[in-house]
Amino acid sequence: MDEIYKSLVNREVPLAGVGEFAPIEIGRLSVWPPVVLAPMAGVTNWPFRAICRRFGAGLYVSEMVTARPLVEGRAKALMLAEFGADESPRSLQLYGVDPHYVGRAVKWLVGEGAVDHIDMNFGCPVPKVTRKGGGSAIPVKPRLLANIIRAAVQSAGQVPVTMKFRMGIDDSLLTYEDAGRIAEEEGCAAVALHARTAAQLYDGEARWEAIARLKQRVKTIPVLGNGDIWEAHDALRMMRDTGCDGVVIGRGCLGRPWLFRDLADVFEGREPSDPPSLGEVVDIAIAHATFLCQWAGEDQAMRMFRRHSSWYTKGFRGSAKLRARLMQVTALAELEDVLRAADPSEPFPPEAMRVPSRQDRRPPKSLPPRRLPRKSPDRRHPPRSTSTPPP
Ligand SMILES: Cc1cc2nc3c(=O)[nH]c(=O)nc-3n(C[C@H](O)[C@H](O)[C@H](O)COP(=O)(O)O)c2cc1C
Repeated sequence: MDEIYKSLVNREVPLAGVGEFAPIEIGRLSVWPPVVLAPMAGVTNWPFRAICRRFGAGLYVSEMVTARPLVEGRAKALMLAEFGADESPRSLQLYGVDPHYVGRAVKWLVGEGAVDHIDMNFGCPVPKVTRKGGGSAIPVKPRLLANIIRAAVQSAGQVPVTMKFRMGIDDSLLTYEDAGRIAEEEGCAAVALHARTAAQLYDGEARWEAIARLKQRVKTIPVLGNGDIWEAHDALRMMRDTGCDGVVIGRGCLGRPWLFRDLADVFEGREPSDPPSLGEVVDIAIAHATFLCQWAGEDQAMRMFRRHSSWYTKGFRGSAKLRARLMQVTALAELEDVLRAADPSEPFPPEAMRVPSRQDRRPPKSLPPRRLPRKSPDRRHPPRSTSTPPP
């Protein structure tokens, strides 16, 4: 990889040595390279996961699905819980504040053979949620946290349950060490720490030292680190600096799913390739948009794809003008016309490697409703995708 694509902080970082890192053992799942796609609401549906999986390996977690609507068989929840036909392992993130619904949702998912891994979300920082004691405020109530986790683990049988959380509400109320202890006591298979507080949202640099501290405290299950991995070499640095067992990749792969190829390379001790030119990025974007149309229907997909269009074209020459046109697109063919009109030989802009766009900081968008039958999950087939499998 050309030096221009490596931040100063990564220029001297050696590639992984033979045997330096091991697969993450999450219950009966063995994950190599030790890389996990972070659950991201409105983003990590099966079309996006399918695109990421083309480039690398690891564990690719679904966007968050809320337990109660899933149990009630609501169309949106069932849609979010869909997987690509050939997707393996099938990893789903679940959110719930009530152990009863969490237990029922897990029992149903597992009973239907629908998932291979469940991640519990205790990191949502949205004030509307935390004010009611939900999301990242749940770990403030250790008994409730333990009850939710217990309900999930007991209902999951052999399917591993992990949990993802933040450092705490703010610097005066740090809960991550207690959360790690509870995860171990209640039988979680791994924990992931987003090394920021809820009050920070996505601001400031992630505090990797908290990941190191959690790793020292949590001895019996893998500890995964999350926050600010923009380049593959950041992952090596995080693992070496903190001793964590694996990394969770969020915004770094938005518009850049080939980050998973780079990650696979560095963990195998290979120098990664240069990022793709605009023409190659356009091919990836069109494949992604095509899957999204299969999943959500063309109308909704085109609306959902607007933020991806911004991410895919970020930093390229003339991208502001291009984006203005992309925001108007209402059909897949039109999207292709607009993207194909751009100069395919345009090289990837080095300045687009790390900087989070303002859009990344917006609260997660919710999915528009889709016409699906409202059936109770008790009577419905497992949420395997009925869509065309990704190639
Ligand atoms: C658009 C968006 C949606 C997100 N949705 C979720 C979610 O549903 N569940 C969750 O646990 N974290 C969610 N997150 C947080 C990420 O999983 C991750 O913890 C965070 O982005 C920090 O990692 P990063 O610095 O690599 O981006 C979301 C983040 C973004 C940017």
